[in-house]
Amino acid sequence: MDQTTFTAVDDYLAATLLPADADLDRTAAAAEAAGLPAIAVSPVQGALLGILAGAVGARRILEVGTLGGYSTLWLARAVPSDGVVISLEVDPHHAEVATASLAAAGVGDRVEVMVGPALEALDRLHGARVEPFDLVFIDADKVNNARYLEHAVALARRGSLIVVDNVVRGGAILDGDPDDPSIAGTRAAFDLVARHPRLRATAIQTVGVKGYDGLLIALVD
Ligand code: SAH
Ligand code: DHB
Ligand code: MG
Repeated sequence: MDQTTFTAVDDYLAATLLPADADLDRTAAAAEAAGLPAIAVSPVQGALLGILAGAVGARRILEVGTLGGYSTLWLARAVPSDGVVISLEVDPHHAEVATASLAAAGVGDRVEVMVGPALEALDRLHGARVEPFDLVFIDADKVNNARYLEHAVALARRGSLIVVDNVVRGGAILDGDPDDPSIAGTRAAFDLVARHPRLRATAIQTVGVKGYDGLLIALVD
């Protein structure tokens, strides 16, 4: 089995399970047209985020790494109309593309994109003593994954979910260069989760249109 099969099966799954959705398609197309990298979650992964958010009854969601707002739109759809998604993005151009797409998709009122380094935004959120988040999706620079996880736990409540994208990277988590800061960052995140007294976690390897990767899913106690 190879990437052609993974992609074909993903296309089948999406075509079979996911309703046609012009706003999601437009959001993906706008990101591509603006020259953003093609690294958003896949449609079936976006649907998983929405299902997880629905399962925990999420009203407040924190996302680290907005890109063009594709995952953000899935998450925003999962919160009630008085809910909120705060999404952190360092690149002003990405944030601008995302903000326009999210407004066009009708969820602009429940999404706030905070522009700047995520670690600074996270410090500000702590300082502001915001209400806890019900779900945190970590999907930005992998070098900071452990730091993002620590912030996520501090900004969560008992029963919150934390999801970390790209934790397998084609097997590079095992056989990749241990001096690669991205690999080191994700390994540090695994180590933190494994010894964290408030986290119960698993990780699932995934294949699909995005290749071979994986998701870490942690429940906060
Ligand atoms: N969650 C998106 C994909 C995010 S790609 C989706 O699935 O649709 C990763 C994003 O993280 C990029 O837009 C990148 O600019 C952003 N990023 C990288 N380093 C960052 C940092 N230090 N702080 C905030 N965002 C960062
Ligand atoms: C990359 C980042 C992602 O968040 C992703 O899902 C895939 C690839 C990257 O930086 O290469
Ligand atoms: Mg990702």
